[in-house]
Amino acid sequence: TQLQSRRLRQPIVVVLGHVDHGKTTLLDKIRGTAVVKKEPGEMTQEVGASFVPTSVIEKIAEPLKKIFPIKLEIPGLLFIDTPGHELFSNLRKRGGSVADIAILVVDIVEGFQKQTYESLEILRSRKVPFLVAANKIDRIPGWKTADTYSFLESFKAQRKDVQTQLDNYVYRLVGQLAELGFNSDRFDRIKDFTKTVAIVPVSAKTGEGIAELLALLAGLTQNYMKSKLRFAEGPAKGVILEVKELQGLGYTIDVIIYDGVLKKNDTIVLGGLNGPIVTKVRSILVPKPLQDIKVVKTDLTQIDEVYAAAGVKIYAPDLENALAGSPLFAAESEQQIEEYKKIIQEEISSVKYYNANIAGIVIKADSLGSLEAIVEGLKQKNIPIRLADIGPITKRDITEAELTLQESKEYAIIAAFRVKPLQGIEVPNKVKLIYSDIIYQLIDEIEKYINEIRE
Ligand code: GTP
Ligand code: MG
Repeated sequence: TQLQSRRLRQPIVVVLGHVDHGKTTLLDKIRGTAVVKKEPGEMTQEVGASFVPTSVIEKIAEPLKKIFPIKLEIPGLLFIDTPGHELFSNLRKRGGSVADIAILVVDIVEGFQKQTYESLEILRSRKVPFLVAANKIDRIPGWKTADTYSFLESFKAQRKDVQTQLDNYVYRLVGQLAELGFNSDRFDRIKDFTKTVAIVPVSAKTGEGIAELLALLAGLTQNYMKSKLRFAEGPAKGVILEVKELQGLGYTIDVIIYDGVLKKNDTIVLGGLNGPIVTKVRSILVPKPLQDIKVVKTDLTQIDEVYAAAGVKIYAPDLENALAGSPLFAAESEQQIEEYKKIIQEEISSVKYYNANIAGIVIKADSLGSLEAIVEGLKQKNIPIRLADIGPITKRDITEAELTLQESKEYAIIAAFRVKPLQGIEVPNKVKLIYSDIIYQLIDEIEKYINEIRE
């Protein structure tokens, strides 16, 4: 019966945007609102994600019934919790993303900043539709916060000059988006949402605009992505967001399941540092249900099965070499195992790169998603790559960088994203070693070094 009532799965929503523009606050507000508005038993707990059920969306958006006369068929929305570029890169699916839709958070007063542009590039390259949350409207001079989740309701109550000021800020965003080739407008002035990016003024602090934001996310995904959201009853498909060692348990993976059903004891095939891993699910773990909404418990509890879309932690043998950003498939036969091993191997190979004829830089990263994002970023800047691979820095990486050095000094770089040299390996001084935990910083520093050497 659970399956019958779940004809559509919940859309997967990510939040991106510039530092300090309010991504975390917005997610907290949505989560907090959902917890307050839920009925007991409505809320399932997730790992790496927050589920907002449709009943909550309907309650919050109740005052908007006239503007959004939609009957929601989706069971709710699944928000990915830890926003930002680094994590988004691991939500990869061949040629695209596991995310169905994104919220691009922009401080309405500051407008577009460096990482807003970067976020847009990422969304464009992964073909993820998005809407813009024009955040911090409460900071517009003269703004009077109203006790409502509705932007339109609050907007109506503002002074004329404050309304004009808000619209001027919105027009500036429209202009900045137009420069990048996107049509956009304030959401309530849009006739065709397939052609125009919606801008929703919100305050993550006061909650104004959350009603419209949720209504739009739900309405747009349901109206325009129905076929993508159809729930398939087969074995689970997912992506590995993170690999973590748990005290007293061992290695676990945090996975977003975007299709099908995952059951305890399922055989799963996933990517590993040394090729595909085949193992058996020992436990599917989720946070314990919240007893008291004010107490955030981190204790985990086991469940027997989970339906897409969901965020779960999986414990299984042989996960110490699991690769974040890699696909995960549950398999029902030997033949399927072999098929999935092949698919995963191909996918890893399509991201890795080696060309002995190129005097270029060496990249090492800890996850498939970050490696892919770094390679893409360097290609855009026409920086040559000799080797792009996963795992710690090895003797071979140094050898490759030294070979580059013979031809062009400026590219004799080992760029390391969240990896270190293997024990006993020392990178010689003539090879430049650049570490960073942030993809765009790594790329910036590579560029800077190349320019320094050239001068
Ligand atoms: P990073 O994770 O560092 O990239 O930042 P972020 O985008 O998650 O921003 P965060 O939510 O941490 O917010 C940054 C600051 O802006 C905090 O001090 C928030 O309290 C504040 N802030 C966020 N949203 C609003 C808002 O709507 N109104 C006001 N007045 N302040 C806000
Ligand atoms: Mg944050």
